[in-house]
Amino acid sequence: MTTQKEVERILRVDHAGERGAISIYTTQIAISRRLWPSCVPALEEMLAHEKSHYRTFESELRKRHARTCYALPLWNLGGATLGLITALLGPKAIWSCTAAVESTVYKHLQEQLHFLEQHDQAAWLAVKAIEADEKSHLEHALDNGGEPVRANWLIWAVVSSCTSMAIWLSRKL
Ligand SMILES: [Fe+2]
Ligand SMILES: [Fe+2]
Repeated sequence: MTTQKEVERILRVDHAGERGAISIYTTQIAISRRLWPSCVPALEEMLAHEKSHYRTFESELRKRHARTCYALPLWNLGGATLGLITALLGPKAIWSCTAAVESTVYKHLQEQLHFLEQHDQAAWLAVKAIEADEKSHLEHALDNGGEPVRANWLIWAVVSSCTSMAIWLSRKL
């Protein structure tokens, strides 16, 4: 695979991942408005970040005349499902979901940055620009009961394996 193809693949996976994040937060906000209103402001701030990340990757893909991921509808559906289940389970489940997603994403971003730094400055900048936001999402989630303790173990296991699987699949699609 050429370097350019790999760069496109990285941008495509991140673009799809942001789609999933938007879907998770949108669903969690809809439910939290009724059940856990105190979670809403932080979730709304995260959603605004994810929307702007999504636009960043969309424009990077467009600049390269590269297509988006075929699995976008799956990210939408998967995100909404995770968002729905965790929001119904309560604030701790919401923040466990965020923490599990964001820590998987954060690790993945580090690998991408390492590759992009040597191969594509513009793509590196795009990924670097979202890194701090994702880290702040992770930190907020950990500070609000989302840490991987025993009570949250199952949510962590399910959400982080779903995230890893979706990343893996999107690299193929
Ligand atoms: Fe994001
Ligand atoms: Fe995020």
